[in-house]
Amino acid sequence: MQQTLVLVKPDGVARGLTGQILSRIEAKGYRIADLRLVQPERALLEEHYAEHDGKPFFEPLVEFMLSGPSVAVRLEGDRVIEGFRSLAGTTDPTTAAPGTIRGDLGRDWGLKVQQNLVHGSDSEESSARELALWFA
Ligand code: CMP
Repeated sequence: MQQTLVLVKPDGVARGLTGQILSRIEAKGYRIADLRLVQPERALLEEHYAEHDGKPFFEPLVEFMLSGPSVAVRLEGDRVIEGFRSLAGTTDPTTAAPGTIRGDLGRDWGLKVQQNLVHGSDSEESSARELALWFA
């Protein structure tokens, strides 16, 4: 059994899509083991996104993630890391496949950062690190 960190990012929360997104996750059969609304501090985000430090979208990404609360979910299930990333769709919401969360509910807003509604850990190592940060 695996766990992953899912975030409904500030754009998803602000657009009132949290319920729909959680419904899709539950309909797929994954278990919500913990959930909280978090207004993160800059230090948490800089650690969470450390691998992107130095990229042109790093500062806009941190600012976007500071712009409002995210819903953090500890999600559990067999192969849930790859399963949730498949459910989320690819990073760019404009071209993410229809049927995915980003493909159905997201689009480009002409900003410096891709506001793509959700985050999912990309490996067991990231999942352990990110869950410890968001559910400290
Ligand atoms: P996420 O899965 O949370 O991981 C890093 C985030 O950075 C990503 O979702 C997007 O919100 C953003 N991102 C990744 N690549 C780009 C890019 N090329 N331009 C703008 N934003 C990006």
